[in-house]
Amino acid sequence: MNVEIVDDYQALSATVAQRIIKTVKEKPDALICIAGGDTPLGVFSALVDASRKGDVDLTQAAFVGLDEWLGLSKADKGSCREMVWGHFFDHLTLREEQICFFDGRTAAPAEECRRVDRFISDRGGISLVVLGIGMNGHIGFNEPGAATDTYCHIVDLDAVTQSVSAKYFDQPRQVKQGITLGMKTILEANSVILMASGEKKAAIVAQTVREPATPAIPATLLKSHPRLQVVVDKPAASRL
Ligand code: F6R
Repeated sequence: MNVEIVDDYQALSATVAQRIIKTVKEKPDALICIAGGDTPLGVFSALVDASRKGDVDLTQAAFVGLDEWLGLSKADKGSCREMVWGHFFDHLTLREEQICFFDGRTAAPAEECRRVDRFISDRGGISLVVLGIGMNGHIGFNEPGAATDTYCHIVDLDAVTQSVSAKYFDQPRQVKQGITLGMKTILEANSVILMASGEKKAAIVAQTVREPATPAIPATLLKSHPRLQVVVDKPAASRL
């Protein structure tokens, strides 16, 4: 696992944003997947800036969501949809058909999974997935114990994920399940970037880099991907 260490969060965000821009320049109709959560917020902001300055043209690109808390919608502060729209899509002029995102309030979760699978296959697969890493090593909502042969699916959330989730919400919430792209969806993407920032991620980053691929730490399963880039800032690399 090759790890690129950059100085700080700003450098991390700029580095990853540049890789996304490069992907879109090489393939204007690229399908991009960027995680929600705190880690990519700087990437969103850098991409919005680049788009406003005309440094990247996103008019042909498409975006697919990585995951969502089951039961939450855009109206719920801290849902993936609310975060990704609030920090990214609301600041761009994209057409509706350019975006596919899980509806966490769906009454038919299995159909919702197939809808997102179809969006991806209709576009010939994902060009680039940009991932954060959970405190327990999860990727999207592929939790410890994750299978590698899954496309979009419903997940029972790990206890760590349930307790960490409180940082996103403005009120107490019981989130027990998620809907997520599967490990197979992610491993079939043309390129994968795993990003991590901050000292609190140092232990899981070190474990991910050192351990052989194991479902106990889903991020290690990315090791089999031929075009994986791990980009971390110095605090997140401090235990390497
Ligand atoms: C969010 C997601 C999660 C996060 C991970 C890290 O859409 O898929 O896997 O990437 O939990 O979260 P942050 O970035 O908030 O530390």
